Amino acid sequence: MSISLDNTTRSYELFKRAQEVVAGGVTSIVRGPSAGWLPYPPVIQRGDGSHLYDVDENEYIDYVMGHGPLILGHRPKNVTQAVAQAILDYGNMFALPYEMERVVAEKIRDRFPSMELLKFNNSGSEATHCAVRMARALTGRNKIIKFEGQYHGWTDAVEYSYQPALKDLGPRTAPRTIPAAAGTPMEFAQFVLTQPWNDADLLRKTLRDHRHEIAAIITEPIMANSGVIPPAPGYLKFLREITREYDILLIFDEVITGLRAARGGAQELYDVKPDITVLAKALGAGFPVAAYGGSRAVMDAVARDEILHAGTYNANVVAMAATNATLDELDKPGTYENLERLSAKLAHGIQEIFARANIPVQAQRVGSFFQTYFSPKPIREYRDAAQYADVQKFRRFQQLLRARGVLLYPNPLGRWFLSTAHTNADIEATLNAVEDAAQDL
Ligand SMILES: Cc1ncc(COP(=O)(O)O)c(C=O)c1O
Repeated sequence: MSISLDNTTRSYELFKRAQEVVAGGVTSIVRGPSAGWLPYPPVIQRGDGSHLYDVDENEYIDYVMGHGPLILGHRPKNVTQAVAQAILDYGNMFALPYEMERVVAEKIRDRFPSMELLKFNNSGSEATHCAVRMARALTGRNKIIKFEGQYHGWTDAVEYSYQPALKDLGPRTAPRTIPAAAGTPMEFAQFVLTQPWNDADLLRKTLRDHRHEIAAIITEPIMANSGVIPPAPGYLKFLREITREYDILLIFDEVITGLRAARGGAQELYDVKPDITVLAKALGAGFPVAAYGGSRAVMDAVARDEILHAGTYNANVVAMAATNATLDELDKPGTYENLERLSAKLAHGIQEIFARANIPVQAQRVGSFFQTYFSPKPIREYRDAAQYADVQKFRRFQQLLRARGVLLYPNPLGRWFLSTAHTNADIEATLNAVEDAAQDL
């Protein structure tokens, strides 16, 4: 299969038309030319399992997977049917409680025992915002610590120092907090201290200097927004201990890792319980849903309405029916073992191909997500990624794969996502395409 710009004419036409009415032609910054979809993105006609089809009938093995939610692939039958049936049987929203909400909450708690009580939202950004606000309310302190290169959504509470230019970061021992979005008042940045990840000594010093100002540390327990960076051995346990020592809340943003790193997320995999957990993405297998929660003690003020939680669409029937069915699907025997086996086969296979081709590549993986950095060194924090990951080579690789029917997100600091719909045949075909691409590179 070979895809060139010659057979994307219909995508071009439709993208141009969209730009006349949809600002920029896309409705998220990661979907357009500025995110690397050059010179214009493929316009999608349909998805089916592990495959995507664009409007020019080009077929791709998809590893974008909606940026993580599609853990069961496109249009998973049981989830789609459950959603349709729930709407037909009940309706799609009530603005009043109903039983399925409790049933889903119980299933989440079964996987994440640290979430004794939880609340639902519609997106990860809302849920991380709620988590940070809750930490501030509970501690009476305003500042949070977040890590360079991590992403917790697009709100003014957390969108700082997400993939800035290396030269703007400031000294490693005293990083600058850089608002990622124009329109965020510079004054807000004073409420966020940024730190390089995976550096216990530096964090210990920062906490010593700011101990009475910090409400919480928010972290992805496995960095999945500057490629994929696992925690250094013992690092998450260190975060748990030092936050207890200083009476600061530990928030795990498991929006990506939650249902992917293991059945019970990174907190199960690394055996570390945070105070607050945030889930989204794979929770609803592509239907919009999110949740945050923690121990009874932590959630008490929210439960008693002393901390605001609102949202017209929270826990709507579509979100709950999707989550209910998704969690049941994921609990079928062998699901995580199969995902692990296929993901390992692909990531190892790619690593071997590039080793044979003498091109330095780091395939860094946890569970069903990984990134291939064109870097001579392992990547342990954002500054490594910004310094060593070869942007041009990754972009070229992405284009070569796309021309061979394998779709990756073009950001060199993105990731590959697998789903239960990917098959051995998909992995073999992908490895063949990578072999070809490696020759061309
Ligand atoms: C770790 C993490 N947290 C939060 C978010 C925000 O979630 P959403 O896009 O659903 O608002 C994302 C989105 O990519 C994420 O990766």
